[in-house]
Amino acid sequence: MFGKIISYEHHDNKVRINFEHRVGKIEVITPNIVNVFSSFKYQDHFSRAIEDLEIVKCNFTVDKKDKYIEVITDELIVKIYDEFKVDFYNKSLEILCEDYRGERDSFIRRGCGSIAEEEGHKVEKNTDNHKIQVIKKIYGDEKFYGLGDKTGHLNKRGYNYEMWNTDDPSPHVESYKSLYKSIPFFITLREKYTFGIFLDNNFKTYFDMGKENSNYYYFGSDDGNLDYYFITGIDMAEVVNGYTYLTGKTPLPQKWTLGYQQCRWSYTPESRIREVANNFRNKDIPCDVLHLDIDYMDAFKVFTWDKEKFPEPTKLLKDLKDNGFKVVTIIDPGVKKESGYDIYEEGLKNNYFAVDKDGITYVNKVWPGDSVFPDFSDSKVRAWWAENQKIMVDTGVSGIWNDMNEPASFNGPLPDDVQFRNEGRGGDHTEIHNVYGHLMSKATFEGLKKHTNKRPFVITRACYAGSQKYSTVWTGDNQSFWEHLRMSIPMLCNLGLSGISFAGVDVGGFSFDCTPELLSRWVQVGCFSPLFRNHSSMLTRDQEPWAFDEETLNINRKYIKLRYKLLPYLYDLLWQGETTGLPVMRPLVLHYSDDDKVHEINDEFLVGKNILVAPVVEQGKRSRAIYLPKGKWIDYWTKEELEGGRTILKEAPLDLCPIYIKVGSIIPNYPVQNYVGEKEIEELTIDIYPGNGHYTHYLDDGESFNYKSGKYNLYDFTMKEGNGVTLEIKTPHLEYEKGYSTFRILINSTEIKDVKFNGKDIAYETKKHVVEFSIKAEEGILVIK
Ligand code: GLC
Repeated sequence: MFGKIISYEHHDNKVRINFEHRVGKIEVITPNIVNVFSSFKYQDHFSRAIEDLEIVKCNFTVDKKDKYIEVITDELIVKIYDEFKVDFYNKSLEILCEDYRGERDSFIRRGCGSIAEEEGHKVEKNTDNHKIQVIKKIYGDEKFYGLGDKTGHLNKRGYNYEMWNTDDPSPHVESYKSLYKSIPFFITLREKYTFGIFLDNNFKTYFDMGKENSNYYYFGSDDGNLDYYFITGIDMAEVVNGYTYLTGKTPLPQKWTLGYQQCRWSYTPESRIREVANNFRNKDIPCDVLHLDIDYMDAFKVFTWDKEKFPEPTKLLKDLKDNGFKVVTIIDPGVKKESGYDIYEEGLKNNYFAVDKDGITYVNKVWPGDSVFPDFSDSKVRAWWAENQKIMVDTGVSGIWNDMNEPASFNGPLPDDVQFRNEGRGGDHTEIHNVYGHLMSKATFEGLKKHTNKRPFVITRACYAGSQKYSTVWTGDNQSFWEHLRMSIPMLCNLGLSGISFAGVDVGGFSFDCTPELLSRWVQVGCFSPLFRNHSSMLTRDQEPWAFDEETLNINRKYIKLRYKLLPYLYDLLWQGETTGLPVMRPLVLHYSDDDKVHEINDEFLVGKNILVAPVVEQGKRSRAIYLPKGKWIDYWTKEELEGGRTILKEAPLDLCPIYIKVGSIIPNYPVQNYVGEKEIEELTIDIYPGNGHYTHYLDDGESFNYKSGKYNLYDFTMKEGNGVTLEIKTPHLEYEKGYSTFRILINSTEIKDVKFNGKDIAYETKKHVVEFSIKAEEGILVIK
């Protein structure tokens, strides 16, 4: 297709290679990130994922060798051959990734598919070559991670997927090629190397991770440009950082968004949502957020209220707010086609809706019946949609839940030739589909930002690479199946590796009827996932924490309270993520990739670096095997110290989720509150697991953007072992006026005889396995012997 290399030119960070038939470009973004590009549709990048990219000025050389052109950065060596075959080496000249030199050669499928189809089987055919297709060699040691919200296990090797945002509420099983999200990014882990590849193409894209042939994997598309980024780093964490350098980091959310959230399709009428709210407070279960699903609207018309069911929404939301509840309302993209409905009329008058090939407003069916679809690929429409958020904000709504934005439609999918403005370039549904939800979230984010001047809380179902900048996500319509509880772990871990660090699943499962045991186990996973929301579908059995029996209620209370205790730790992780791009919920492989025993662990995960959670995800199980990576770990419940690098067996009665803390950890805790902000927290608890370690705790007002201008505090703890333990406390940044007055120190050890802070004796008490005392929240050295 490209032919032989004829010549090359080198300008700034770009190397343009003229082949016989086409032009290829290599662009050095940072010493670790290189872009491979050829124009098939647009002259240059036209990215929805990457905004305001900063090219790092770095030295690199370009040389013409006998058979190839060589580009050398400080970290990578890229060799470009005829036919635009591109190979990547590390600086020690070890090959990381090379283009496969043969043709695609699919495995053989036998038999006659049509007869199987007659019985209702879905028969897969071998796929054709794609217009844009990159085939990479498999060396044999590869594992693949990322790819967004795909079903199945953590490692994607041996499977194929498509990126085409899909709303299919039938049970999400391993054979699904696509779900709601398109994140065309994956990380390859080889025995000694790791790198990521981001195909920035928002048309339908295809990923085959060694399924059709174990000698290669490939990715491709039938439209758009050849435009991919090769991202390397010393470890997976650096690759995730590189990917989020391109597509953006998850911004720090408001603190209450990390509280417990309760949802249902639907809490209606007003008396029902008040009853749910009161139940939380009366039953002593913390909760910050209540969600209103589609039935709060008048005939499902977005930005309206059903005045019969919710006669005084402003008063309702104020009453709830006075009781600590923030309300999030659902907003779908489909606008009801109804004359006299102002949103519809306004959009129609201004040509804000997508049109068919003849330029007539395109209509399909969603909840409101005949509906039209705002063209979010036009900045004017986004600005209008952003302005509409004011309607909700003025009523007292605290966050917006964007659903059905694949976009979903009940009267068949949108035809390919539905037309969009596409930022003035014009484009059809094949181009906009995968970024429709992304652009809708962007508009919602901008609107909430403008009208609240707080960090926006948006939840979206559909997204594209980079949506993390605007929105948190949930994984759509799962079911109350044990299998879906199990799958939620690799799914959230892979979403995290794909840049989406603020994510969650419907705790308890959306469709089908939950059971007390399933909810009890699910809340044990949910309480560690960044977005912690229990949600269920209409006509399913009630699934609130109190919906079953006393035991289930107690288990829910225990883990929701644990969540509130860990809030400062989770908030710190999100704050760190603004710099590192690392997610809250992490597969073990992210930090222990040298240990091949963790590469395929699907039923354990890390929260940050130091908390390992090994939940029970099988019905009836009351014990489980747990692999602890190398190092020393403390059982969170019993305080028993365990040597890692081996598998242990743990008894796990229904109310116990096995949790392990790495020795050397310093974990901040809050007192349990009914909701974030209920208590002024003057004393921060520091839960210490003696060893060598370092931790930085971050504090700000938890809602505004003042932290961007320096209004925050940092508390730095450095712990060293040897003749007891010393903890050096520093406060390198103190510009937020409401700092702590004291620290409550918990030392997870009972062998303590003497505690001194800045030379002065400190009185302590010994409780079961822990020694406790308080000190002033100031710089100093704590010596514990
Ligand atoms: C979709 C959403 C679900 C919501 C329902 C009604 O199925 O995924 O969360 O409850 O629509 O709005």
